[in-house]
Amino acid sequence: MKLLVFAGSTRLGSWNRKLASVAARLAAQAGAEVTHLELADFELPMYNADLEARGTPADVLKLKQIFFEHPAWLVCTPEYNASYPALVKNTFDWISSPVQGDPVWGDGFRSTRGKVAGVLSASPGALGGLRSQSHLVPLLFNLHCWVAPTTFGLSRAAEAFDSDGGLASEAARASVQAVIDQLLWAAIRMNAE
Ligand code: FNR
Repeated sequence: MKLLVFAGSTRLGSWNRKLASVAARLAAQAGAEVTHLELADFELPMYNADLEARGTPADVLKLKQIFFEHPAWLVCTPEYNASYPALVKNTFDWISSPVQGDPVWGDGFRSTRGKVAGVLSASPGALGGLRSQSHLVPLLFNLHCWVAPTTFGLSRAAEAFDSDGGLASEAARASVQAVIDQLLWAAIRMNAE
């Protein structure tokens, strides 16, 4: 199963990027063919329809293709003001926006429809970014994704990682594993011939 793992943060010391790295390793061990995407590698301006009318940015087209090629996604989202950050919204807004007149990407949901998504979050706070998940899940539904019902929010993220970048707590590791296992279970069945 081709799994796309990414964090909704470009911050160098990001807890969600660390969590995405842990999840990518666990998913690969579980047999997934993992692509670990860094949103910092893509130049996405803030979505603007006038800008788009002058031509969809090349990196948006690259992202559309990458998301399209992966039947399963694992999103690690930070929580900003009880929701997910603008980076996450902007990324999904661009990739779901139809490219006018394009025979392939004229279908805005081509890169998102029918994907199986797993949701993780991490926050230095006590709730582990759970409130970001409650906004992200409806966004994913709107993109015509199927969302794995098991999710996990890593709380007290600043104390959660060991010096090797792994999760210090076995319970936290097992919770991430549970999301991955359910996501892969569903994605494999939904993509069976
Ligand atoms: C935050 N942060 C935050 N944390 C939280 O648990 N609930 C919240 O509502 C918010 N709100 C919020 C708003 C804004 C504007 C910022 C910049 C930050 C803190 C946030 O969880 C923290 O900065 C994380 O470290 C961000 O994730 P990464 O970059 O470490 O992955």
